[in-house]
Amino acid sequence: MTTSKTLGTGPATIPSLGFGTFRIPGAEVLQILPHALNAGFRHIDTAQIYGNEAEVGEAMAGSKVPRNHIFLTTKVWVEHYRADALVASVHESLRKLRTDHVNLLLLHWPNANVPLTETLEGLNAVHQAGLAQHIGVSNFNTQMMEEAARISTAPLVTNQVEYHPYLNQDKVLAAARQLGMTVTSYFGLADGTVVHDPLLQAIGQRHGKSAVQVVLRWLVQQPNVLALTKTVQPARAVSNYQVFDFELSADEMASIQALGAQHKRLVSPDGLAPAWD
Ligand SMILES: NC(=O)c1ccc[n+]([C@@H]2O[C@H](COP(=O)([O-])OP(=O)(O)OC[C@H]3O[C@@H](n4cnc5c(N)ncnc54)[C@H](OP(=O)(O)O)[C@@H]3O)[C@@H](O)[C@H]2O)c1
Repeated sequence: MTTSKTLGTGPATIPSLGFGTFRIPGAEVLQILPHALNAGFRHIDTAQIYGNEAEVGEAMAGSKVPRNHIFLTTKVWVEHYRADALVASVHESLRKLRTDHVNLLLLHWPNANVPLTETLEGLNAVHQAGLAQHIGVSNFNTQMMEEAARISTAPLVTNQVEYHPYLNQDKVLAAARQLGMTVTSYFGLADGTVVHDPLLQAIGQRHGKSAVQVVLRWLVQQPNVLALTKTVQPARAVSNYQVFDFELSADEMASIQALGAQHKRLVSPDGLAPAWD
């Protein structure tokens, strides 16, 4: 399979597997990002709240991989959702990231204290100005996705949500399909716990792959699904990217999907999380 996905009704081509930088302090970003780029990653995910945009920018600037070969995502933090604050915060992100645009700009979590119309006005303004090539949301439930898609002038290309074998996301996937959006999986490895799963290990053995590679493959093999993965270990950055040289059977895909009945949600911070579907 190709390593990029073009969206159904949207204009974006996004590398299917991105390198996440949540919980990687700046100094470690400087160490690991060159390894991730060497391993083949061309999609980097950061956020204002991660506190490492400057180091992501520094690592990209120091890399031999040209900026226009990297799909860069950042996320606006909820405290910057008033339209003026949002625009100012994006200028600040771009300064830290040492670039004149990001490829994708997301609203990190919903924020009921600011009308969605105002926040989307800001998001569309930065898109219109060319500061963000594409825009989208994160941690939105299906009702919020529909509302945001209705309000936004520019297409919303993704909803980035927790999605791993132990959390069924059929409703979000169906809504995304309906709206011509992708779903971007975060915590795809269920915070690393998938390594111990006997089913995933058994499937991996059949393909000469690890449980982690099976999960990342399961994610990127689904239509309209993109995946993020994070590691601070160079060898894992290499192996995590080696998921484009094998294919899971329909039965294998279905047996992994069935684990989702456990409905184990790991990320649901008080004060931020919406009423999940
Ligand atoms: N939008 C949001 O609200 C949101 C929330 C959470 C995350 N995200 C994004 O999604 C990205 C991915 O999520 P995540 O980083 O938290 O979780 P994850 O990918 O599910 O899990 C990362 C954990 O798995 C371990 N790991 C990675 N590769 C491994 C391998 N080959 N074998 C064994 N263990 C392995 C890592 O440890 P080591 O580092 O020690 O290898 C780390 O502890 C984030 O970095 C971030 O960009 C977004």
